[in-house]
Amino acid sequence: MPSHGHSLILAPLRGVTIRCFRETFADLLDELGFTEAMTPFISAMPGLDPLDDRELRGAAGSPRLKVTPQFIGKDPDALRNCLVRVRDAGFDTADLNCGCPFPMVRRKGRGSGILRTPDVLRRMVEVGCEVMGPGMFSVKARIGIDRPDELLGLLPMLNCFPLRHITVHARTAVQMYDGVCDRAAFEAVRRESAVPVIENGDLPLPDPGLEMASPAMIGRAFVRAIGGRADSCELLGRYIAASRQELHGDRPVLGRMKELVAYWRDIPFWRRRWDVVKMCRTVDELLSVISRA
Ligand SMILES: Cc1cc2nc3c(=O)[nH]c(=O)nc-3n(C[C@H](O)[C@H](O)[C@H](O)COP(=O)(O)O)c2cc1C
Repeated sequence: MPSHGHSLILAPLRGVTIRCFRETFADLLDELGFTEAMTPFISAMPGLDPLDDRELRGAAGSPRLKVTPQFIGKDPDALRNCLVRVRDAGFDTADLNCGCPFPMVRRKGRGSGILRTPDVLRRMVEVGCEVMGPGMFSVKARIGIDRPDELLGLLPMLNCFPLRHITVHARTAVQMYDGVCDRAAFEAVRRESAVPVIENGDLPLPDPGLEMASPAMIGRAFVRAIGGRADSCELLGRYIAASRQELHGDRPVLGRMKELVAYWRDIPFWRRRWDVVKMCRTVDELLSVISRA
C-alpha cells in the first residue's frame, strides 16, 4: 500500500459504497491507499437498532478497512442509543451526517437541515463526543444550505467540542451534486476550525507515487476508477457473485449492479454496454454481457 502520510477515506455513497462493495473491492481500496471507509447513513431513530442494519449486522468482524458508521437524525436520545450499541459492538468512531441535501430530509431538519437548527446540532455533537469519547466522533457537512458560509458561522459552537474531524463537501445543499465545489469556502472552514478538516467533493484519486498533501475523502472517483480498469468485467462478476450470496432473487442484485455501472457510462468501454446493461432483466443476461466483453 502506498504511504500517503494522510488518511484517505472512502466516502459514503448510499446504495453504492455499501458493505458488500467495500468487501468485494477491499484489495483495490488497499492498493490505492484508502485507510478507512464511512458507511452510508444509518437512521438514528427511536426504536431502530443500528446493528440490524445490513451495514453493521454481525458487527465489527474484521473488516479490512477501518469502518466508521455514519448516522443521520435529529434526536439526541436516539443517537445516544445507537452510539452505545455500535461502541459496544467494537466500533470506536462514528460520524453525524450534516450534509444530505434531499429536500424531504433537509426540511425535516435532518442531514444538511440540521445546519439551520444550531441547538439540535450542538446537542447531537455533545452526545456524540460524550458516548464515543474525545477525538472519536466526527461530522460530515455541506458548506451551507443555500449560502456558502453557513457551516463557517457554526464553527464557534463546533470548536467547543473535541471532534475527531469535520469533513466538508464543498457544495451547498441546494447544489445537490452539481456545479463546482467552492474551494474558497472550504479553505475558510479549514482556517477557522479547531479540529482537522477533511476535504471532499470531486477530488481525483491520489497519484500512487506522490504524497497526499492533506487528508481527503473520495467517493465517485473511486467508483469510476473500477470501471476504467482492464479487469472491470471480472471485478463486476465478483461483485455480482457476492451480491447473489447476500440478496434474494435477481431484482435487487440487478438494481445494485445498474446503480454501479451507471457511474461508468462515460468510460469508452462501457458507453455502449451501459445501454445493454440497463435493459437486462435477469442476472444471467447481465453475466452474458460481461462474459462477451
Ligand atoms: C448516490 C450518492 C449517495 C450518497 N450518500 C451519502 C451518505 O449516505 N452520507 C453522506 O454523508 N454523503 C453521501 N453522499 C455524498 C458523498 O459522500 C460525497 O460527499 C459526495 O459524493 C462528494 O464526494 P465525491 O465527489 O468524492 O463523490 C452521497 C452521494 C451520492 C452521489
